This record gives sequence, structure tokens and C-alpha cells, in this order.
Amino acid sequence: MSAAAPMTTEEARRDQSADATKGLTILIAGGSSAAGIAGARAFTQAGHRVISVGSDGGRIAAAVAGIPGATGLVCDLADPDSVSLLADQVHDQFGLVDGLVHLVGGWRGGDGIAGQSDVDWDFLQRNVLTTLRNTSRTFYPDLAASVTGRLSIVSSTAVSRPTAGNANYAAVKAAAEAWVLAVADGFAVDGSRAAAVILAVKALVYDGMRAAAPQRNFPGFTDVKRLAEEVAGLFARPAAELNGSRIIL
Ligand SMILES: NC(=O)c1ccc[n+]([C@@H]2O[C@H](COP(=O)([O-])OP(=O)(O)OC[C@H]3O[C@@H](n4cnc5c(N)ncnc54)[C@H](OP(=O)(O)O)[C@@H]3O)[C@@H](O)[C@H]2O)c1
Repeated sequence: MSAAAPMTTEEARRDQSADATKGLTILIAGGSSAAGIAGARAFTQAGHRVISVGSDGGRIAAAVAGIPGATGLVCDLADPDSVSLLADQVHDQFGLVDGLVHLVGGWRGGDGIAGQSDVDWDFLQRNVLTTLRNTSRTFYPDLAASVTGRLSIVSSTAVSRPTAGNANYAAVKAAAEAWVLAVADGFAVDGSRAAAVILAVKALVYDGMRAAAPQRNFPGFTDVKRLAEEVAGLFARPAAELNGSRIIL
């Protein structure tokens, strides 16, 4: 039997199993959303470094301003070639990624089934599904190689209770959930220690929404800070219990 090759610096970093949940590199896709900003705060406070990605330079710069340890990068995540260039830049500057937190979304509804427009379908498919496919395919090898690799999406409880008025939205979110389950299967088949997880909410709320409508209670809404804590906590939980799971918040 030949002697094992010495570990590279990157492998050594990833082999710190005693402290595998510290100092991770986490990419937030859709980092200028309220959820993305809360996530960047939670991850950096936990000692991780964050790469927040959005399509608009001004918005992503504003999102990471005042969050030490978070870097904003611009990329159209709906374009596979741009995502490939983003991965080159991330690998050059930060090394491999341990976490992909997918937050690109948006909502479109219509008047019943006949009112589900193709324009809305194209928007939802592009934002919700294409960006997820592009980012998870590109960063899959990173996540699969990490001792704490995590992919998470924020889906909707509407997937299991779709209405005629949000048929486009629920169908695209269902497709995103199926994609995540397929990634989870990939991790299992590849013998990886990574996990792919679906978090489902009814709706999100943040301080700005409460300030704009102080009379509203937002029943059943999930605060983005609670969501951020939940996503950050995924990195400390065993992959075996998480991989392929759907957690309703
Ligand atoms: N809000 C809710 O009530 C709710 C309910 C259920 C599920 N969710 C899910 O929770 C997640 C966060 O929701 P949210 O409402 O906070 O999202 P959001 O406000 O719609 O934010 C979407 C984020 O994605 C970025 N983005 C959009 N298109 C992009 C592209 N092509 N390339 C790169 N970045 C792009 C946006 O920034 P730029 O436009 O600057 O690029 C923004 O940072 C989403 O997955 C959403 O579906 C939300």
C-alpha cells in the first residue's frame, strides 16, 4: 500500500472535523433581499465568511455595508455562463464554498387558472428555478467536497396547498423542491457529508414591513431573523438527519 499524499491547505481546512462548523465560506444567492441581509449577519456573527450575490451592484453593496466578513458580488444568476465566471472569481478569492443559500425568488399571482400568464411563468421559472439550477450545478462539487456542505432553499407552504390564483408560483416552487431532493440524492449517492434542505414558509416579514404597517399582525409569517437562525443552524446539525428534509417554519 502506498503512503497517503500530504493534504493540501484546502483539504486540511476541510478536515478540521473537531471544528468543522466554524470559518465556513457561504454564498448567499439573492443576498440583497431582507432575508439575505439577515442571513449575512447571522453567518458572519457565527464566524463564517459570506459572499452575497445579487444582480444589481448598488443593492448588493448596500446589503453588505456594515457587515464585516460579508463581500458583495454582482452576477446574473439566471445566466449559466455568468455563474461559471462567478465561480472562478469566488474560487480565486475565497476558495471552495461550504454553503449555498438560495434566496432568489419573487411572487406572481393571477385570476384563477385561466389568469396564470406566460409572462409570470417565465419570470418565476427564471428567478426561482433557473437560478437554483445554475448555482447548484456549478457549486455542487464544492458542497459535496465540504465536511459541512449545505444547500438550502426557501420554499412555500403553498406547494402542498396550491390555489388556482397562485398555480404558476406553486408549480415552480414544487419544481424547485424536486430539484433540491435530486441534489440530496446526489450527495447520498456520491457518499458526501453534505445535505440539501428545503425550508418552507407561508410568508416572510421583516422590520421594514412592520414599520410600514404597524396595525398588521402578520399571522403565520416567519421573521427573516428566525429564518436566518434556522439556516445558520443547519451547519451544526448532522447531514444524515437533514439531507432531503423539508422543514416547515
Ligand atoms: N417573501 C415571502 O413572503 C416568501 C414566501 C415564501 C418563500 N419565499 C422565498 O424566500 C426567498 C427570499 O424571498 P424574498 O421575498 O426575501 O426575496 P426577494 O425580496 O424577491 O429578493 C430576491 C433576491 O434575489 C436577487 N435577484 C433577483 N434576480 C436575480 C438574478 N437574476 N441574479 C442574481 N440575483 C437576483 C435580488 O436582488 P437584485 O434584484 O438586486 O438582483 C434579491 O436579493 C425566495 O426564495 C422566496 O421565493 C419568500
